[in-house]
Amino acid sequence: MSIDTDVLIVGSGAAGLTAALNLAETRNVAVIAKGALGEGATGRAQGGIAAVLEEGDSFEAHINDTMIAGAGLNDPKVVEHVIEAAPRAIEHLIELGVPFATDGNALHLTREGGHSHRRIVHVADATGYAIQQALEAAAAKHPNIRLVPDMVAVDLVTGRNASHFSTSGAVHGLYAYHRRKKRVETLTGRATILATGGAGRAYLYSTAPRGATGDGIAMAWRAGCRVSNMEMMQFHPTCLYNLQVKNFLITEAVRGEGGILKHPETGHRFMPDYDERGELAPRDIVARAIDHEIKRDGLDYVFLDISEREPDFVRAHFPNIYEKLLGLGIDITAEPIPVVPAQHYTCGGVVVGLDGRTDAPGLYAAGEVTQSGLHGANRLASNSLLECLVFGEAAAKHIDANWDSLPDVPPIRAWDESRVTDSDEEVVITQTWGEIRRFMWNYVGIVRTTKRLERAKHRIDMLRREVTEYYGHFRVTPDLIELRNLVEVADLIIRSALSRHESRGLHYTLDYPKMLAQPKDTVLVP
Ligand code: FAD
Ligand code: SIN
Repeated sequence: MSIDTDVLIVGSGAAGLTAALNLAETRNVAVIAKGALGEGATGRAQGGIAAVLEEGDSFEAHINDTMIAGAGLNDPKVVEHVIEAAPRAIEHLIELGVPFATDGNALHLTREGGHSHRRIVHVADATGYAIQQALEAAAAKHPNIRLVPDMVAVDLVTGRNASHFSTSGAVHGLYAYHRRKKRVETLTGRATILATGGAGRAYLYSTAPRGATGDGIAMAWRAGCRVSNMEMMQFHPTCLYNLQVKNFLITEAVRGEGGILKHPETGHRFMPDYDERGELAPRDIVARAIDHEIKRDGLDYVFLDISEREPDFVRAHFPNIYEKLLGLGIDITAEPIPVVPAQHYTCGGVVVGLDGRTDAPGLYAAGEVTQSGLHGANRLASNSLLECLVFGEAAAKHIDANWDSLPDVPPIRAWDESRVTDSDEEVVITQTWGEIRRFMWNYVGIVRTTKRLERAKHRIDMLRREVTEYYGHFRVTPDLIELRNLVEVADLIIRSALSRHESRGLHYTLDYPKMLAQPKDTVLVP
């Protein structure tokens, strides 16, 4: 199956499906996902979406909170644009049938770290699932949208892959591996949108889905696009500590509704020792405080305790967390939850403008794959689904409005497998994957030093040589595609971290503990 359509979208989360729905009235669209449609981060989101809806709140306050969390590295023009678009984006989701929680006639607003007001609309503690369902249902109904699961994008198609070689830099689609047919197909379109999510699986512990291997970032980089602020990896303070269940998030809304962080041995509430905002300080501060407590006292975890609240309140607000943990023998209405920080969100990514355009003609990007200027050095809680909705729509609108100036699709050469064979050494993939995730966690984690970063750089250079050689000899498989991308993004993260000589937001290094006067993006140019 080769697909030739108007617009190709890689990714079926909030960003990809929003773009598809906004294009479908005028264009034919194909949306591919590397597994099932709902397997991205969107379906996992718990807390909700931030928007100014409370009486007494203002756009200025939300903008200010976003800039404070982002340690001034945000682009004020982008922050303003996205935050002012938030109420309309929520309205649109309601029209699609997302059943946000209400309080009388108004939406119920919860609170999360870094927000000076109640601002988060939610569907109990499973907001992302409800959004994913609503977007998927609307897309499935639309005759101009073709949803294609189980297609793993390998690389973008550019003029270099055309029958008549060209160096224009324009993107004409992509090569993708069809899981069932076990072969690489050519997909072409006049515009391509990357909505592939983040790169959290570069780390040993992460709340991100299994497929968050930075594929879109790596593909755009290989196609010649700039990538920015990759050192700004967000660690969520409260991931469940459990030896059987890894990667289960305990939403920040638990702290927003009164959850307290405590030392597991002394019961001491430690957050006020670190920040006057206590448990509701921005994420980077809370994650670093927990990391410090754990490392100083040799702990496995700290406690998050919401048992002071009425049991009925806890069960009503956090029904999924309550049930999940009860199944593991923890009754959160009566006892504390053991938690640790884990990688959670990729603030950096492919550089895009307000219209979702990347550096390559015909290539757009939206959502977690991008560095749009919204998050700066640390994303404010619940601002990222919002970014997906706003930029998904913006990319669609720009494509539609500029249709005639998009590059024509030339004849493209088929994927060439004539010089490779099937691998007889799959173990190389699992071994290398594990190695990367471990040293990224240990050397490029919450607290960094130049020496640790240099160690990581040394290792990634070695692994890159091995993986490049392996890739050159064997037929691609989904695991190999992901490993190749993981090596690429790990390298981008380490290089970005080494080049920032200050501590700002999520990048905290003992060698440069101070923040420089002028905020400056880290921009890597291919
Ligand atoms: P995703 O939803 O991650 O979708 C990525 C898509 O790309 C998937 O369909 C995937 O299959 C596809 N894809 C990737 N690579 C390829 C490839 N090579 N070929 C084909 N397809 C590919 N944010 C908030 O604002 N509020 C919250 O409450 C919140 N809670 C969160 C809770 C958790 C546990 C996590 C992990 C994140 C949370 N976030 C939250 C962040 C937010 O969910 C994500 O940033 C957002 O959903 C990203 O959406 P996206 O559309 O960019 O990508
Ligand atoms: C959470 O619910 O704590 C996650 C919110 C977010 O990542 O924005």
